[in-house]
This record gives sequence, structure tokens and C-alpha cells, in this order.
Amino acid sequence: MHLSSLETATRIQSGIPGLDVQIQGGLQAGDFVLLIGGIGAGKTIFSSQFVYNAAKMFNDRAVFATFEEDIASLKRNMLKFGMDIGALEAEGKVKLLDLEALEGRGMGSNIEALLSALDDIHARRLVVDSLTAFLSGAEQKYDYSFLMHLIYKTLKREGVTTLMTVSKLEGLGARLGIEEFVADGIFELENYVSQHMELKTRFIVRKLRGTDHSRKYHSVAFTPNGIQILPYSP
Ligand SMILES: Nc1ncnc2c1ncn2[C@@H]1O[C@H](COP(=O)(O)OP(=O)(O)O)[C@@H](O)[C@H]1O
Ligand SMILES: [Mg+2]
Repeated sequence: MHLSSLETATRIQSGIPGLDVQIQGGLQAGDFVLLIGGIGAGKTIFSSQFVYNAAKMFNDRAVFATFEEDIASLKRNMLKFGMDIGALEAEGKVKLLDLEALEGRGMGSNIEALLSALDDIHARRLVVDSLTAFLSGAEQKYDYSFLMHLIYKTLKREGVTTLMTVSKLEGLGARLGIEEFVADGIFELENYVSQHMELKTRFIVRKLRGTDHSRKYHSVAFTPNGIQILPYSP
């Protein structure tokens, strides 16, 4: 496939089985990637696995900021996949941040909390689950440009590789916001109904700047070890 074009030495590996080989060995430092997906498509598992692997496999410190689930349930759910993210947090390799989407306010303080969390542990990676909830706190255009400033002037300058999840409502099509044009990469987890009337999930790399990526749909398996991306089987 794309194995011949692996650039592993310079790439930020996800460690998610089946993903890195699709993207020349990983992301590029400072990439800003959106993970779009429907309800239960695996956005939270995928993105928390990205943070867990960063610290566990690649010795990269990472911040996981959640608006979606409280930290206690996140830890409990990850433990079911054998991933003790609480232990990594205790070692100072991971920082879990519980943010709140406060209507019309709180955007600035959320961004401040994010930046100081990154600073605290000298993080190289950031996950925000979800950008959808984060932006629901942005009422004015001012907040919106503040966010874009955060991404471009701060995260990119510092070389922090960032993954943010985006909730997509089934059947409504993609809502195209500024963030989708700004993103270096767009990964999608799609729910679909198989011929046997089974709800399944598939994965595709829609876009990744600077990367000769796979354009094939892949199947997503929820295994006892977390999410795996496999060759497509309908
Ligand atoms: N321990 C588990 N074993 C197998 N599958 C699981 C497990 N926990 C969750 N899942 C699957 O993952 C789904 C939730 O994934 P999640 O990442 O929370 O979705 P999203 O964040 O996209 O809404 C569940 O609906 C279930 O199908
Ligand atoms: Mg989720």
C-alpha cells in the first residue's frame, strides 16, 4: 500500500493498530487533525487511545481535554481496554482536563486551562473531545478567531500535534465550518448498516496535508485492546 513511502523517523505515531501505515508512518509534528464521527462511532475511544499510546509507547506527554465525559468514567472505560490512563496521569505523563461548555462564556478560561495544562507537563500532543462542545461555548466571532489563533499561533508554533473530535449527526451531512478548512487532516469514523443489518463502523482518511495517505475505507473493530483499523470487510 503506502508502506514504501513510510517516513517513520520524522512522524508522530498514533500506535492505533492499522492507522500509521495509512499515513506514511504517522502525523507530522504540529498537525491539527479533526476526527469526525457519528454517535458511538468510537471518537472518544480513538482519541483517548491516541493519548494513552503517546505516553505509554512513544514517551510523548499528552493532554486529554474532555467536554463529553467525566474523567472518572473515561478512566473506568479505558481500563476495560487494559489502558490504565490514571497510572500515566499519576506519573505526570498525561494530564486529563475536565472542561465545561458554558454558553457564551468560559471560552477564554477554557483556552487558558488548556494552555497551562500543556505547559505543566510539557505536552507534545493534545486531544479535545469534542471541538463541537468547545465551540458551543463560542457565541461571538471574537471567540471563534481566538480559537483559530490558539490553533495556529500557539499549537503550531510549539509543534503540538492536536486531535479534536467533531460530532456528526447521522443523515444531516457534514456541517462545514471554518475549522474544517483550517484542519491539516480530516479522519472520519462512519457508522453504517451492513447487509446483515448489523451496525458497523468504517474509517477513512479524507485529507492529510503533506502526506501520501491511503484513500481506502477500512473496517473498525472494537476489541478488548481498544480500537483496531483493519482492511475493509463489508
Ligand atoms: N469495552 C468495550 N468493548 C467493546 N466495545 C466497546 C466497549 N466500550 C465501548 N465499546 C463500543 O464503543 C462505542 C462507544 O465509543 P465512543 O468512543 O464512546 O463513541 P463516540 O465518542 O464516537 O460517541 C460503544 O457504543 C460500543 O459500541
Ligand atoms: Mg464521545
